[in-house]
Amino acid sequence: MEVVIAPAEELARLAADTIEERLRARPESVLGLATGSSPLKVYDELARRHAEEGLSFARARAFMLDEYVGLAADHPERYRNVIEKEIASRVDFAPDAVRGPDGLADDLVAACADYEAAIADAGGVDVQILGIGTDGHIAFNEPGSSLASRTRIKTLTAQTREDNARFFGDDLDQVPQHCLTQGLATIMSAKHLVLLATGKGKAEAVHQLVEGPISAMWPGTIMQMHPHATVLVDDAAASRLQLADYYRQTYRSKPDWQGL
Ligand code: GLP
Repeated sequence: MEVVIAPAEELARLAADTIEERLRARPESVLGLATGSSPLKVYDELARRHAEEGLSFARARAFMLDEYVGLAADHPERYRNVIEKEIASRVDFAPDAVRGPDGLADDLVAACADYEAAIADAGGVDVQILGIGTDGHIAFNEPGSSLASRTRIKTLTAQTREDNARFFGDDLDQVPQHCLTQGLATIMSAKHLVLLATGKGKAEAVHQLVEGPISAMWPGTIMQMHPHATVLVDDAAASRLQLADYYRQTYRSKPDWQGL
């Protein structure tokens, strides 16, 4: 696991570089997109590179991590709509190239199985962008999630619903109780995991993710088992890392030619 501690703008550029390198090497690459505020600067940078530098997504596909259950198709906080607004509509993905789990399906169990099959049919995700919840969740794999889980229905914790109430006019009652989420094993199947975290509120979750024991209580810790995982954090999110000096030194002495 590589940990990079840098200002948020630099982190966004590094994540965008990784996606750009992958797309230029193989335009048909499969991207994993995350919602939440953490990846927004990455999406801004990718949109800029598309507009100004010709970076194309025309042959790429993308899979989202998760979706709320039951939000109306036109609800602005439905994750499919959020991803459309933040990135999909700003670049040149082909129609239907971006998919998310169907939180409005009559048969949610079947929708989860279909989603797993679609990811596998696409050949798996090449680069997966991730954020982390203050309780250590990745996607919506809340504490207690099986480390071997696949896409399924989950109940959101009170903490996550409170954290996300800001997107629902601070009205907790408007935040759905359930979601569909890629499982931890689904996420672990991606070839490269790139997690972004900024701000003091993420410091404990980042410490556990990188340095804590692997445990379902901090679901992101499963990333320690991934052969190619990159954790991009700012100073505040890194403030509880025991080996922060070592991560800084490693990044400073990294050769220019070596990507993430
Ligand atoms: C949300 C999403 C996650 C996201 C996390 C952190 O609930 N389901 O995919 O990583 O919470 O969100 P933020 O980046 O806004 O802090």
